[in-house]
Amino acid sequence: MIKTIDLNSANLIDTKATSSKGNQLKWLVRNNWYKADHMGYEGLCEVVISKLLKKSNIKHFISYSPVRIEFDGRELNGCYSKNFKKKNESIITLEHLSKQWLANSMTKELLRYEEPKDKIKHTVDFIEKITNLKNVGKYLTTMLELDAFFLNEDRHTNNIAFILNDDTGEYSFCPYFDFGLSLLADTTIDFPLGDDIYTLIGKIHSKPFSRDFDEQLDAAQELYGYNLNFSFTNKDIESVFKEVSDYYSADIINRAKDLLYNQKHKYSYMFQEDGM
Ligand SMILES: Nc1ncnc2c1ncn2[C@@H]1O[C@H](COP(=O)(O)OP(=O)(O)O)[C@@H](O)[C@H]1O
Ligand SMILES: [Mg+2]
Repeated sequence: MIKTIDLNSANLIDTKATSSKGNQLKWLVRNNWYKADHMGYEGLCEVVISKLLKKSNIKHFISYSPVRIEFDGRELNGCYSKNFKKKNESIITLEHLSKQWLANSMTKELLRYEEPKDKIKHTVDFIEKITNLKNVGKYLTTMLELDAFFLNEDRHTNNIAFILNDDTGEYSFCPYFDFGLSLLADTTIDFPLGDDIYTLIGKIHSKPFSRDFDEQLDAAQELYGYNLNFSFTNKDIESVFKEVSDYYSADIINRAKDLLYNQKHKYSYMFQEDGM
C-alpha cells in the first residue's frame, strides 16, 4: 500500500546545498521531517537501512518510513522521520563547529594532514575538546563502519552532527542519520540502472577522511576498535524490502538487495556474535 501526502502548501525548508549532489527537498510538517528523492532511490536507502539497524548493536538512529509526496504538480518518492530535536536543542554540524572554533572549513582543515588516521584523530580530539563528549572516536568509527557497509558516499562534514542543549550548553550525540546516498542510490548521474554493480562499486568514493571506504574504515578501527555488530539474516533483508516494494521498481529493489548480499558477504566479521 502506498501512503501519499500532499505537501503543496507545506513549509519547504530552505537548506543550503551541502551535498555535492545537491539537496533533497525537505519539509517539516506536524513534527515529521519529509525528504523527497532527488538523484534516485534515497528514500529506499533510508528506510531499508534504518530497518536493518534495528538488528544491530546500534540503539541511536533515525527511523525512516517510505512515503509518496505530491508537490508542485509532481509525485515524488521519499521518506519521513520523526523530528528528534527538542525545542531547547540545536543541531550543530561538524562543519559548523570547525568554522566557529577553527575559523576554517573542516574539509580544508583536514587537508593539513596526509594520513586518514591523522585526519580522524585530529577530528575526534577537536570534537571532544569542544563538546566535552567522551567516546567520540567510537561514535565516529561506528559511523564509518556503517558507511563502508552500506556504501554511503555522502558523509560530508554537515552529515556529522551533535545536539546542543541551549539551556545548559551541554552536547549529546545525534542519532545516526542521512544514509540517503547509499547502495548506489544516485541513478541519475553516477550509477545508472542496468550497469554492472561490481563495476559501479569500484567507482564509489567515501568521505570525509579518505576516498577509499576500506582505507577510512581500517584507519578508524585501528584507532578506536571494532564497534559495529549486525544480527540481520538474509530473510530479514527480504522482509525489509517489502516495506518499499510498492514505491520502487523491481530493478531498483533487486539491485539494492544484491548490493546488501554482497556487502554482508564482504563484511561477514560484522555478523560474528563476539565481534573481532
Ligand atoms: N528526523 C529529524 N529530526 C531533526 N532534524 C532533522 C531530521 N531529519 C533531518 N533533519 C535536519 O535536516 C538536516 C538535513 O537532513 P539530512 O537527512 O542530512 O538531509 P539531506 O539528505 O538533504 O542532507 C539535518 O542536519 C537536520 O538538521
Ligand atoms: Mg544530509
